[in-house]
Amino acid sequence: MTKTVFVTGGNRGIGLEVVRGFAKAGCKVLLGCRDEDAGNEVKEDIVGGDVHVIEISLNNEQSIIDPFVRAEAVFGGIDILVNNAGVMEDSDLSSLSLDDFNSTMQVNVNAPLTLIQQALPGMKERGFGRIINVSSGWGSFHEGMEGPLAYAVSKAALNALTKNVAGALGDDSNVTVNSVCPGWVHTRMGGSDAPRTPEKGAETIVWLGMLEDDKPNGKFFRDKKEINW
Ligand SMILES: NC(=O)c1ccc[n+]([C@@H]2O[C@H](COP(=O)([O-])OP(=O)(O)OC[C@H]3O[C@@H](n4cnc5c(N)ncnc54)[C@H](OP(=O)(O)O)[C@@H]3O)[C@@H](O)[C@H]2O)c1
Repeated sequence: MTKTVFVTGGNRGIGLEVVRGFAKAGCKVLLGCRDEDAGNEVKEDIVGGDVHVIEISLNNEQSIIDPFVRAEAVFGGIDILVNNAGVMEDSDLSSLSLDDFNSTMQVNVNAPLTLIQQALPGMKERGFGRIINVSSGWGSFHEGMEGPLAYAVSKAALNALTKNVAGALGDDSNVTVNSVCPGWVHTRMGGSDAPRTPEKGAETIVWLGMLEDDKPNGKFFRDKKEINW
């Protein structure tokens, strides 16, 4: 059966390649972005596939819930949710403002939480769901929690969200939640020195979403291999 995928930040970078990847795999893809025109512009270049633009700002709970509920009403239940959108403030302990910290947490953690709360009941009811949180090695305790402060803390919190929700679902569930580090990717966020293409960054995310029988839950991946938290 055709799977319906919801991708946040689908208008550029890794998110756009995730949209392309799922479209190529035959899914119906809802390309979430905060500027509908930007979404429509990139959609024109996606050859084939069933892609629809959903305007969604991740800035507060209601700006997330309203378009998500409308999208499910129009396009049907979401089978695969990719929490890809993210922001990175380049501030350290002395320069970071609480406002910037809070807005980073809103987009990188609170928004994924809200979307999971919205998507999960339907996934459980239908007996299938794949949730992929796009995290970072900079949110990994094992890798030293490097990177700008708010970003690192937010990605560690996103990993904690993955682990906690996955634990509550249990390993026998056909609804899974996993985190992915895409590696250092050449995008607006990653910058031009980054060695990876957005296609490479998207690869593990699409792979996890399309897994049917082998269904890891509560794990952290890079390059289709489990990595340490
Ligand atoms: N690039 C890397 O090297 C790297 C490494 C590790 C992890 N990641 C993670 O990978 C994910 C994608 O990153 P990227 O490199 O593709 O970044 P990017 O090119 O900067 O794209 C970020 C996306 O998030 C969207 N976004 C940001 N704030 C939003 C908001 N308030 N509401 C709705 N959408 C919002 C952006 O929308 P606009 O276009 O409207 O701004 C854009 O679509 C992020 O979670 C990032 O943390 C990236």
